[in-house]
Amino acid sequence: MLSTKTNEIVVVKTETSKIEGIDFNNLTFGRTFTDYMFYCDFENGEWQQPTVAPYQPMTIEPSARVFHYGQAVFEGMKAYKDDNEKVFLFRPKENFKRINKSAARLAMPEFPEDYFFNGLQTLLNLDSAWIKPGIGNSLYVRPFVIATEPAISASPAASYRFMIICSPAKAYYTEPVRVLFAEKYSRSADGGVGFAKAAGNYAAQFYPTSLAQKKGFQQIIWTDASTHDYLEEAGTMNIFFRINDKLVTAPNNDRILDGITRKSVIQLANDNNIDIEVRRVSVNEIKEASRNGSLKEIFGAGTAAVISPISAFEHSEEVFEIPTTKDSYASLFKTQLLNIQHNLTDDKHNWRYEI
Ligand code: COI
Repeated sequence: MLSTKTNEIVVVKTETSKIEGIDFNNLTFGRTFTDYMFYCDFENGEWQQPTVAPYQPMTIEPSARVFHYGQAVFEGMKAYKDDNEKVFLFRPKENFKRINKSAARLAMPEFPEDYFFNGLQTLLNLDSAWIKPGIGNSLYVRPFVIATEPAISASPAASYRFMIICSPAKAYYTEPVRVLFAEKYSRSADGGVGFAKAAGNYAAQFYPTSLAQKKGFQQIIWTDASTHDYLEEAGTMNIFFRINDKLVTAPNNDRILDGITRKSVIQLANDNNIDIEVRRVSVNEIKEASRNGSLKEIFGAGTAAVISPISAFEHSEEVFEIPTTKDSYASLFKTQLLNIQHNLTDDKHNWRYEI
């Protein structure tokens, strides 16, 4: 292994890439990792020397606080390559702001902006061969922070590790998704951490989601914790409802993730002169719209999921099938987003960030 210093980041290079053994046409989301990873430790009240090194297991004490109190936050981003080999991220400043907002809520130190962007730049340059051009291909980029201090007292850690790992990705969902509207379990409550990308938010969803999966549904759409009358978001994406030609989505609050794809869809709806309302959406409204034929689409929006159509929902043991709509908003937004992400069209909102 060679070791060089660039832009304050220590770069430890590998001479053997794993890429030859990867079948890029048969990727399961989140199972394959690139050659490199980025890490930076927080010790003695400050972030230390950042490093990019070969992706590898690491040593961490069993008493590290992340294992006991779940002090961990993460982000989801994607890198895309155009046909001229240029690499882009999509709205990465939003991810940077959000990981620090999540960190602040979990009493973790904020990560400096230049470290974040220099880290991404160095890592993606080294892993560039893992980013394949063409719509449908991307490199999923996962920044995360964990509390590493070995101590089991229930209080914030004094040491942390910030990391970025990358995984080549195709679609998260290959088929339209069937969902269950939550009636008992909740994702989060007011005053909680629902707005943060806290690792525990996702772990807490696994059990109710596994119950839904046993009934044939892939995801749950979470309802508000106090009444379960209002639809909020799904486990891996924000949710949009199309009633006749109008689009409706729930407002951000303590419980809902401020999704970057969500806010991009809201902007694209405005750009396309589609009537969009950001307001509370009740379970009864959607059931009634399904019954009277005005519910034309439900779709999810997220970094991993991109835009994922929902084909059916269940509530109170009643299943509602959503017929396929010609000229769907889901396919319009998906095409427009992917075209922006892959540098195939103008980028009037400056969402692309060239690496
Ligand atoms: C993303 O869309 O990037 C996410 O973080 C969702 C994740 C649970 C797959």
